[in-house]
Amino acid sequence: EISKPLAGKKLMVTAGGTIERIDPVRYITNDSSGKMGFAIARVAKELGATVQLIAANTNEAPPEGIEVIQAMSAQDMYDAVLERMDDADIIIKAAAVADYRPVKQAPHKMKKSSERLSLELERTEDILQKIGELKKHQFVVGFAAETHDVDYYAQDKLKRKNCDFIVANDVTAEGAGFGVDTNIVKIYDHQGLVEQLPQMTKEQVAHRLLSLIADRLAGGSI
Ligand code: PMT
Repeated sequence: EISKPLAGKKLMVTAGGTIERIDPVRYITNDSSGKMGFAIARVAKELGATVQLIAANTNEAPPEGIEVIQAMSAQDMYDAVLERMDDADIIIKAAAVADYRPVKQAPHKMKKSSERLSLELERTEDILQKIGELKKHQFVVGFAAETHDVDYYAQDKLKRKNCDFIVANDVTAEGAGFGVDTNIVKIYDHQGLVEQLPQMTKEQVAHRLLSLIADRLAGGSI
Protein backbone atom coordinates (compact mmCIF):
# COMPACT_ATOMS: atom_id res chain seq x y z
CA GLU A 1 0.00 0.00 0.00
CA ILE A 2 1.57 3.27 -1.17
CA SER A 3 0.78 6.23 1.06
CA LYS A 4 -0.97 9.13 -0.69
CA PRO A 5 0.10 12.24 1.21
CA LEU A 6 -1.14 14.49 -1.61
CA ALA A 7 -4.61 12.92 -1.88
CA GLY A 8 -7.22 15.60 -2.52
CA LYS A 9 -4.61 18.19 -3.55
CA LYS A 10 -4.49 19.89 -6.95
CA LEU A 11 -0.99 20.42 -8.22
CA MET A 12 0.10 22.47 -11.20
CA VAL A 13 3.63 22.00 -12.52
CA THR A 14 5.39 23.65 -15.46
CA ALA A 15 8.08 21.90 -17.48
CA GLY A 16 10.37 22.29 -20.47
CA GLY A 17 11.96 25.24 -22.18
CA THR A 18 9.93 27.99 -23.74
CA ILE A 19 10.34 28.84 -27.43
CA GLU A 20 10.37 32.46 -28.57
CA ARG A 21 9.87 32.74 -32.31
CA ILE A 22 12.04 34.92 -34.54
CA ASP A 23 10.27 33.87 -37.74
CA PRO A 24 8.26 30.78 -38.83
CA VAL A 25 11.38 28.56 -38.92
CA ARG A 26 13.64 30.02 -36.22
CA TYR A 27 13.42 30.53 -32.49
CA ILE A 28 15.28 31.21 -29.24
CA THR A 29 15.13 28.52 -26.58
CA ASN A 30 17.24 26.92 -23.81
CA ASP A 31 18.52 23.50 -22.74
CA SER A 32 15.57 22.39 -20.61
CA SER A 33 14.40 18.88 -21.55
CA GLY A 34 11.32 18.85 -19.35
CA LYS A 35 12.64 15.85 -17.36
CA MET A 36 12.51 17.58 -13.97
CA GLY A 37 8.96 18.91 -14.40
CA PHE A 38 7.63 15.66 -15.86
CA ALA A 39 9.19 13.69 -12.98
CA ILE A 40 7.39 15.98 -10.52
CA ALA A 41 4.10 15.46 -12.40
CA ARG A 42 4.43 11.65 -12.38
CA VAL A 43 5.46 11.40 -8.73
CA ALA A 44 2.76 13.87 -7.62
CA LYS A 45 0.15 11.66 -9.25
CA GLU A 46 1.60 8.59 -7.50
CA LEU A 47 1.32 10.47 -4.22
CA GLY A 48 -2.38 11.08 -4.84
CA ALA A 49 -2.51 14.61 -6.32
CA THR A 50 -4.65 15.68 -9.25
CA VAL A 51 -2.03 17.01 -11.63
CA GLN A 52 -2.04 19.62 -14.37
CA LEU A 53 1.19 19.78 -16.35
CA ILE A 54 1.88 22.94 -18.36
CA ALA A 55 4.51 21.92 -20.89
CA ALA A 56 6.68 24.02 -23.17
CA ASN A 57 9.20 22.39 -25.53
CA THR A 58 10.07 18.81 -24.50
CA ASN A 59 10.51 15.29 -25.88
CA GLU A 60 9.02 13.67 -22.80
CA ALA A 61 6.02 11.43 -23.35
CA PRO A 62 2.75 12.74 -21.90
CA PRO A 63 2.21 10.83 -18.63
CA GLU A 64 -0.92 8.76 -18.31
CA GLY A 65 -3.70 10.17 -16.17
CA ILE A 66 -2.27 13.67 -16.19
CA GLU A 67 -3.79 16.65 -17.97
CA VAL A 68 -1.13 18.18 -20.21
CA ILE A 69 -1.59 21.74 -21.44
CA GLN A 70 0.85 22.88 -24.09
CA ALA A 71 2.26 26.39 -23.70
CA MET A 72 5.22 27.02 -25.97
CA SER A 73 6.16 30.66 -25.38
CA ALA A 74 6.64 32.56 -22.13
CA GLN A 75 3.42 34.45 -22.92
CA ASP A 76 1.48 31.22 -23.62
CA MET A 77 2.74 29.82 -20.31
CA TYR A 78 1.85 33.01 -18.45
CA ASP A 79 -1.72 32.82 -19.81
CA ALA A 80 -2.07 29.08 -19.11
CA VAL A 81 -0.77 29.38 -15.55
CA LEU A 82 -2.66 32.53 -14.57
CA GLU A 83 -5.92 31.10 -15.91
CA ARG A 84 -5.61 28.03 -13.70
CA MET A 85 -3.81 29.19 -10.56
CA ASP A 86 -6.91 29.88 -8.45
CA ASP A 87 -7.81 26.18 -8.49
CA ALA A 88 -4.37 24.91 -7.53
CA ASP A 89 -3.21 24.01 -4.02
CA ILE A 90 0.42 23.59 -5.08
CA ILE A 91 2.23 25.33 -7.94
CA ILE A 92 5.71 24.21 -8.98
CA LYS A 93 7.61 26.11 -11.66
CA ALA A 94 10.26 23.76 -13.04
CA ALA A 95 10.05 25.20 -16.58
CA ALA A 96 12.90 27.26 -17.97
CA VAL A 97 11.10 30.38 -19.13
CA ALA A 98 12.71 32.87 -21.50
CA ASP A 99 13.52 36.20 -19.88
CA TYR A 100 13.59 37.94 -23.28
CA ARG A 101 11.76 37.48 -26.58
CA PRO A 102 12.19 39.10 -30.00
CA VAL A 103 10.32 42.40 -30.17
CA LYS A 104 9.11 41.50 -33.65
CA GLN A 105 8.17 38.13 -35.06
CA ALA A 106 8.71 38.10 -38.83
CA PRO A 107 5.62 36.71 -40.58
CA HIS A 108 7.78 35.12 -43.31
CA LYS A 109 11.16 33.40 -43.25
CA MET A 110 13.78 36.13 -42.97
CA LYS A 111 16.10 36.42 -45.97
CA LYS A 112 19.79 37.02 -45.54
CA SER A 113 21.10 40.37 -46.71
CA SER A 114 23.51 42.52 -44.70
CA GLU A 115 26.64 41.13 -43.01
CA ARG A 116 25.28 41.87 -39.57
CA LEU A 117 21.85 41.56 -38.16
CA SER A 118 20.70 42.74 -34.74
CA LEU A 119 17.84 41.10 -33.03
CA GLU A 120 16.01 43.35 -30.63
CA LEU A 121 14.70 41.61 -27.51
CA GLU A 122 12.23 42.67 -24.87
CA ARG A 123 11.54 41.33 -21.39
CA THR A 124 8.89 38.69 -20.92
CA GLU A 125 6.64 38.76 -17.89
CA ASP A 126 7.92 36.86 -14.88
CA ILE A 127 5.27 34.22 -14.26
CA LEU A 128 6.56 33.13 -10.86
CA GLN A 129 6.76 36.72 -9.65
CA LYS A 130 3.14 37.28 -10.70
CA ILE A 131 2.05 34.09 -8.92
CA GLY A 132 3.89 35.35 -5.83
CA GLU A 133 1.92 38.60 -5.99
CA LEU A 134 -1.48 36.96 -6.51
CA LYS A 135 -1.21 33.82 -4.38
CA LYS A 136 -3.66 33.20 -1.56
CA HIS A 137 -3.75 29.65 -0.20
CA GLN A 138 -1.37 28.16 -2.77
CA PHE A 139 1.97 26.61 -1.81
CA VAL A 140 4.35 28.00 -4.43
CA VAL A 141 7.68 26.46 -5.40
CA GLY A 142 10.18 28.05 -7.75
CA PHE A 143 13.33 26.59 -9.21
CA ALA A 144 16.56 28.52 -9.57
CA ALA A 145 18.99 27.53 -12.30
CA GLU A 146 22.31 29.11 -11.41
CA THR A 147 25.87 28.91 -12.65
CA HIS A 148 27.54 30.79 -9.75
CA ASP A 149 26.71 32.12 -6.27
CA VAL A 150 23.89 29.56 -6.19
CA ASP A 151 22.88 30.11 -2.56
CA TYR A 152 22.79 33.88 -2.83
CA TYR A 153 20.79 34.04 -6.06
CA ALA A 154 18.40 31.26 -5.02
CA GLN A 155 17.49 32.97 -1.75
CA ASP A 156 17.20 36.30 -3.51
CA LYS A 157 14.70 34.74 -5.98
CA LEU A 158 12.77 33.14 -3.11
CA LYS A 159 12.26 36.54 -1.52
CA ARG A 160 11.68 38.60 -4.65
CA LYS A 161 9.22 36.12 -6.13
CA ASN A 162 7.50 35.39 -2.80
CA CYS A 163 7.75 31.58 -3.06
CA ASP A 164 7.31 29.14 -0.19
CA PHE A 165 10.21 26.98 -1.36
CA ILE A 166 12.93 27.53 -3.90
CA VAL A 167 14.82 24.57 -5.35
CA ALA A 168 18.31 25.59 -6.37
CA ASN A 169 20.35 23.63 -8.86
CA ASP A 170 23.88 24.48 -9.91
CA VAL A 171 23.47 23.80 -13.62
CA THR A 172 27.24 23.67 -14.16
CA ALA A 173 27.65 20.64 -11.84
CA GLU A 174 27.96 17.27 -13.53
CA GLY A 175 24.83 15.15 -13.09
CA ALA A 176 22.70 18.21 -12.32
CA GLY A 177 20.44 20.61 -14.14
CA PHE A 178 19.52 20.61 -17.80
CA GLY A 179 18.99 17.50 -19.89
CA VAL A 180 20.26 14.77 -17.54
CA ASP A 181 18.25 12.19 -15.57
CA THR A 182 19.70 13.22 -12.20
CA ASN A 183 19.86 16.44 -10.23
CA ILE A 184 21.66 17.89 -7.22
CA VAL A 185 19.51 20.40 -5.37
CA LYS A 186 19.17 22.49 -2.26
CA ILE A 187 15.72 23.44 -1.03
CA TYR A 188 15.26 26.76 0.79
CA ASP A 189 12.39 28.44 2.59
CA HIS A 190 12.27 31.91 4.17
CA GLN A 191 14.15 30.63 7.23
CA GLY A 192 17.05 29.34 5.13
CA LEU A 193 18.23 25.91 4.01
CA VAL A 194 15.57 23.22 4.46
CA GLU A 195 17.42 20.35 2.87
CA GLN A 196 20.48 19.65 0.77
CA LEU A 197 20.12 16.55 -1.39
CA PRO A 198 22.95 14.51 -2.88
CA GLN A 199 22.90 13.52 -6.56
CA MET A 200 19.77 11.47 -7.16
CA THR A 201 17.36 10.77 -10.00
CA LYS A 202 14.89 13.52 -10.84
CA GLU A 203 12.12 11.14 -9.64
CA GLN A 204 13.84 10.89 -6.25
CA VAL A 205 14.26 14.68 -6.07
CA ALA A 206 10.56 15.02 -6.93
CA HIS A 207 9.63 12.51 -4.24
CA ARG A 208 11.61 14.31 -1.53
CA LEU A 209 10.35 17.75 -2.58
CA LEU A 210 6.72 16.61 -2.68
CA SER A 211 7.03 14.88 0.72
CA LEU A 212 8.34 18.11 2.24
CA ILE A 213 5.43 20.03 0.69
CA ALA A 214 2.91 17.46 1.96
CA ASP A 215 4.34 17.83 5.49
CA ARG A 216 4.09 21.63 5.32
CA LEU A 217 0.50 21.45 4.08
CA ALA A 218 -0.35 19.04 6.86
CA GLY A 219 1.05 21.58 9.29
CA GLY A 220 3.75 19.21 10.45
CA SER A 221 7.26 20.23 11.26
CA ILE A 222 10.04 18.73 9.22
O1 PMT B 1 14.07 20.33 -17.86
P1 PMT B 1 15.35 19.63 -17.43
O2 PMT B 1 16.28 19.35 -18.60
O3 PMT B 1 15.07 18.41 -16.59
O4 PMT B 1 16.19 20.65 -16.51
C1 PMT B 1 15.69 21.03 -15.25
C2 PMT B 1 15.89 22.55 -15.00
C3 PMT B 1 17.36 22.85 -14.85
C4 PMT B 1 15.29 23.37 -16.15
C5 PMT B 1 15.11 22.84 -13.67
O5 PMT B 1 15.64 22.07 -12.64
C6 PMT B 1 15.16 24.33 -13.33
O6 PMT B 1 16.07 24.81 -12.68
N1 PMT B 1 14.12 25.07 -13.77
C7 PMT B 1 14.06 26.55 -13.66
C8 PMT B 1 14.86 27.15 -14.77
C9 PMT B 1 14.82 28.66 -14.73
O7 PMT B 1 14.23 29.28 -15.58
O8 PMT B 1 15.40 29.21 -13.72
P2 PMT B 1 15.55 30.79 -13.43
O9 PMT B 1 16.50 30.87 -12.31
O10 PMT B 1 15.86 31.50 -14.72
O11 PMT B 1 14.11 31.23 -12.99
C10 PMT B 1 13.69 31.19 -11.64
C11 PMT B 1 12.23 30.80 -11.54
O12 PMT B 1 11.41 31.81 -12.15
C12 PMT B 1 11.88 29.47 -12.20
O13 PMT B 1 10.96 28.79 -11.37
C13 PMT B 1 11.22 29.90 -13.51
O14 PMT B 1 10.23 28.95 -13.94
C14 PMT B 1 10.57 31.22 -13.12
N2 PMT B 1 10.42 32.17 -14.24
C15 PMT B 1 11.50 32.71 -14.87
C16 PMT B 1 11.32 33.65 -15.88
C17 PMT B 1 10.01 34.03 -16.24
N3 PMT B 1 9.78 34.90 -17.22
N4 PMT B 1 8.95 33.48 -15.61
C18 PMT B 1 9.14 32.57 -14.61
O15 PMT B 1 8.18 32.07 -14.03
